[in-house]
Amino acid sequence: MENLTNNIMHQFTLGNSILEISYIIASVLFIIGLKMLSHPDSARKGNLLAAFGMGLAIIATLLFHTKDGEPIGNHLLILIAIAIGTIIGWMIAVKVKMTAMPQLVSLFNGMGGAAAALISLMEFPHIESSLIAESGLANGHVLAILLGLLIGSVSFAGSMVAFLKLDSRLGDIKASWIRYINIVLLVVLIGFLIGIMIFGETPEASQIYLYLMFVIALVYGVLFVMPIGGADMPVVISLLNSFTGVAAAMGGFLYNNQAMLTGGILVGSAGTILTILMCNAMNRSLFNVIVGAFGGKAAGVSDAGGAIKEISLSDTAVLLSYSQKVVIVPGYGLAVAQAQHLCHDLDKLLEDKGVEVRYAIHPVAGRMPGHMNVLLAEADVPYDRLIEMDDINPDLPNTDVLIVIGANDVVNPAAEDDPSSPIYGMPIIKARDAKNVIVMKRGMGKGYAAIENNLFFADRTRMLFGDAKETLQKLLAEIKSL
Ligand code: TAP
Repeated sequence: MENLTNNIMHQFTLGNSILEISYIIASVLFIIGLKMLSHPDSARKGNLLAAFGMGLAIIATLLFHTKDGEPIGNHLLILIAIAIGTIIGWMIAVKVKMTAMPQLVSLFNGMGGAAAALISLMEFPHIESSLIAESGLANGHVLAILLGLLIGSVSFAGSMVAFLKLDSRLGDIKASWIRYINIVLLVVLIGFLIGIMIFGETPEASQIYLYLMFVIALVYGVLFVMPIGGADMPVVISLLNSFTGVAAAMGGFLYNNQAMLTGGILVGSAGTILTILMCNAMNRSLFNVIVGAFGGKAAGVSDAGGAIKEISLSDTAVLLSYSQKVVIVPGYGLAVAQAQHLCHDLDKLLEDKGVEVRYAIHPVAGRMPGHMNVLLAEADVPYDRLIEMDDINPDLPNTDVLIVIGANDVVNPAAEDDPSSPIYGMPIIKARDAKNVIVMKRGMGKGYAAIENNLFFADRTRMLFGDAKETLQKLLAEIKSL
C-alpha cells in the first residue's frame, strides 16, 4: 500500500515538474519568437517558434495539469474544441488578403478578449470558500477575476466594432455625447468592481452584479470604439490588443499558470509599446485618440482645388531613366494592386541604368503597422533600401523624381498646412519637397481619412492614372524600350 502511494506521489511530482518545465520552455519561446518578429527575415520563424511554444503549453496542460490532485477531465470535448478552432483559424488565415489583415487581427484579438471574459464568468462562482475569509470577496484572486472580465469584455466588444468598421460594414458615429456616456459607464464599472470586492460576501450573492458588470463592459467597449476616426484606427487596434494581453495575464494569475501569465504580459506590454510608438508616429496623444478629437472638419471637405496635370507613360519613363535620385512612396494602393514585385522590377531596372532608388516608408502607410515593410520584403526588396520617413524627408529636396504608388494620406500636405484637417499634426512624407512628383493611382479617389489631397494639384505634381499593377507593367515595357 505504501509502495502504491509512493508511486502515485512520484508520478504526481514528476508530472508537475514536466508541466512547470514545459511552461518555462513555452515562455522562453514566446520571448524569442517576439524578438524575431522585429525583423522581416526572421519574423516567419519567430511566429512558428511562438506557436510551437503555445502548442507545447497546451499539450502539457492537457496531460499534466491537476486540480486537487485530479487530472483534467473532458479531454474529448477539449480536443474537439481545439480541432474546430484550429480548422477555422487555419482556413481564415490561408484565405485572408494582406490588405484585410487589420480586420483579421481585430477579430482574433476579440476572441482572446472573449475567452478571458468567459474564464472570469466561469470561475467566479467557484471561488474557494477558503479564500473568502472575514473580509468577504476582497482578495487578489477575486480582483484578477473581475479585471479579467472587465478588460476582456471591453476588448471583445471594442474589437468587434473595430472589425466591422475596418471591413466598412460600420461607419464612425461622431456624436460628442458618446464621450460623456463613456465616462459615466467607466465610473459605473469601476464602482461595480470596488463594490463587489468590498461588499460582496459570497460569489452567489454577487453574481447578479457580475453579470451586470459584464453587460455594461460590453456596451462600454462598443461605445469606446464607435466614435474613433478612421486614421486613428491603427492606434485603437493595438490598444485593444494590449487590453487582451492584460486580460489573459489575469487568467494566468488566476490559474497560477506561468505560460499564460508570460504570454499575457508579453502581448499586453508589446501592445502598449506599439500604441505609444504609433501615437508618437502620428503626433497624437493617447488621450486625444480615445476621446476622438481627430480634427474638426467633416471628412471629405477640403480646400483642395485647381487643375491636375497628367503625365504620359513615355514621359514618365524618360523622366525616371534620366534621373539620378528616385524615391518611391508605397501606400495602401500598392498592396491592393499586389504590384510589389513589379515595383521591385522597376527599381532594379532603374538601378541598372545607374539611378539611385530608395523607398520612403511611412509608419502608418497601408492598413497595419509595418504593412509596407512586409509587402516589399515579400518582393525581396533589400531591407536597406527602405528608409524611414524621418530619415528620408530631409533628403527629398535633392530627389529628382518622387513616385507615389497608391499612397494618399501619408503624403497629404494638409497634415502640415490645414489646422482644421482631420489629419492635421500627423507627420507625413514631405513629397512636395521633391523636384518632380508623379502620383500613380486609379483616379481621384480619396484615401483612408476620406479627404482631398492638395499634393495632386501642386505645380510639380503629375498624375499617372491607372491600376498600379497595370501601370507598372506598361511603364517597365516603356523603360526597356528606351
Ligand atoms: P490611403 O490614404 O488609404 O490611400 C490609398 C490610395 O490608393 C487611394 O487614394 C486609392 O486611390 C489608391 N489605390 C487603391 N487601389 C489602387 C490600385 N489598385 N492601384 C493604384 N492605386 C490604388 O493609403 P496610405 O497613404 O497608405 O495611408 C494609409 C491610411 O490608412 C492612413 O490614413 C492610415 O492612418 C490608415 N490606416 C493605417 C493603418 C496602419 S497601422 N498602417 C491601419 C488602419 C488605417 P484611387 O481610388 O484613386 O486609386
